[in-house]
Amino acid sequence: MCQPLRLNAGNEALAGTSVSLRLLTPLACIAARSMASAAPRGGPAAFWDSTYGSGPEMVYGQAPNRWLAASSGVRDLVPEGARIVELASGEGRNAVWLAEQGFRTVGVDISAAGVAKSRAFAKAKGMSEDVLRFETGDATTFGDDDSFDAVVGIFAHVPPPMKQAFIANMVRIVKPGGRVIGQWYTPTHVDRKNDPAIAWGKGGPPDAAACFSAKELRSSPLGTEGAFEVLEEVDADVTEGTLHAGKANVLNVIWTKATLLEGKPDRGEA
Ligand SMILES: C[S@@+](CC[C@H](N)C(=O)[O-])C[C@H]1O[C@@H](n2cnc3c(N)ncnc32)[C@H](O)[C@@H]1O
Repeated sequence: MCQPLRLNAGNEALAGTSVSLRLLTPLACIAARSMASAAPRGGPAAFWDSTYGSGPEMVYGQAPNRWLAASSGVRDLVPEGARIVELASGEGRNAVWLAEQGFRTVGVDISAAGVAKSRAFAKAKGMSEDVLRFETGDATTFGDDDSFDAVVGIFAHVPPPMKQAFIANMVRIVKPGGRVIGQWYTPTHVDRKNDPAIAWGKGGPPDAAACFSAKELRSSPLGTEGAFEVLEEVDADVTEGTLHAGKANVLNVIWTKATLLEGKPDRGEA
């Protein structure tokens, strides 16, 4: 159930931050449910099953996403032993890394082939199911309200009609004071990739509508239900496995969900 009006029970994830504390509204919860029910089924699962099922190699490699591993998001802001979900976890490279950092991690992906490869990868790394598990599931509906200390999404590109439900779901399942940490390709990336006059890298959705811009996230529930610590569109070298190679324009996001103190919104005013 959505329970937006309640006390922040001393969430450690807020320690040492200057996040403004605002009134939570149930809008994200309502949006997640109504939009998810209209989402198409089957298409992306079949596409990704065929991509991941085409061979034993991991198409984005075994190493975690470079930004995820290097940025302050997970390293400095998520408390030790925290519960993290990676939505659209693919073949498991990021979730395995998160578990190796000591987080209790669950990876969720719509592709059964991706989940099977993730489980095999975790087994080969000797990871126990107590710290890391993978589930076949839909990133627009997975998870209970306020249940994760952090939600991670790395190139978690869902079909355009499902994007708003996906964003609303991230907001719904992260705890007050918890983080959303992610990297996505931007519409700029797709424009440049499709421009023969520009030498650009390969990778990312073919459709700009499947990407995220800073402007779009600012006007989404992320903009009203919490505060961005990082929201930047930057050029980066994204070389990962065989499918991501070279120059990219990406959106880096570190966001904290607002909390309540004593049932009243605290806007940090003197
Ligand atoms: C570009 S891949 C990224 C995989 C992984 N995050 C990584 O960085 O290695 C996009 C992933 O989104 C998954 N996906 C697409 N729509 C989804 C949905 N509605 N729910 C869960 N996963 C989804 C695909 O199956 C695919 O694994």
